[in-house]
Amino acid sequence: MLILLQHPLITHKLTLLRDRSTSTKEFRETLNEVSGLMAFEITRDLPLREVSVETPLRTSRARVLATEIVLVPVLRAGLGMVEGITNLVPTAKVGHIGLYRNEETLQPVTYYEKLPDTISSAMVLVLDPMLATGGSASEAIRCVKGKGASRVKLVSVVGAPEGVRRIENDHPDVDIYLAALDEGLNESGYIIPGLGDAGDRIFGTK
Ligand code: PRP
Ligand code: URA
Repeated sequence: MLILLQHPLITHKLTLLRDRSTSTKEFRETLNEVSGLMAFEITRDLPLREVSVETPLRTSRARVLATEIVLVPVLRAGLGMVEGITNLVPTAKVGHIGLYRNEETLQPVTYYEKLPDTISSAMVLVLDPMLATGGSASEAIRCVKGKGASRVKLVSVVGAPEGVRRIENDHPDVDIYLAALDEGLNESGYIIPGLGDAGDRIFGTK
């Protein structure tokens, strides 16, 4: 299922990300802010469990998160989303999947994978700001499922209809969260209007 997160703060900050005059520093900060706001919405119905807590005045029943959260950024650009989410969920574990898209074939090439052992019982958020053809996200989801993950959500910022269709087809059990669904892809596989090359804009490599 596709879920568009269109809180006004997310939408406003997305406009800053789209703007070509936004500096690397601002882009990095804003992507983290957007990611935190998205995570706040996505975690709205996480399960809680009862605990007992000693307040300064008495013992009380209280509730804490009942499930572990594992973040899996897709390198490179997914790294730009991690800090904004760990600021809210400091106990989250972080796995990494290194993938890049071959510029001619647009097929994903995997070069790194390191995932926590607890992934099979955790809520897993696969992070990649761009969902273009969907090849990279589909492969990243295949990797986490291969390690036993069964509760997986894809968190991207901007998506193209092509990428959404690809994930719905390859992983119908995975919810897709986007801040915006854009028009489509250009002949080089870039999202239009999009925000350009997310990795380059986060790391200042172009
Ligand atoms: C970008 C982006 C996604 C992928 C999306 O990564 O961060 O991972 O492209 O495209 P797709 O949906 O068509 O697969 P890129 O290949 O540029 O690698 P980088 O993050 O290392 O720059
Ligand atoms: N990867 C990006 O970084 N941007 C796009 O528009 C498509 C793929």
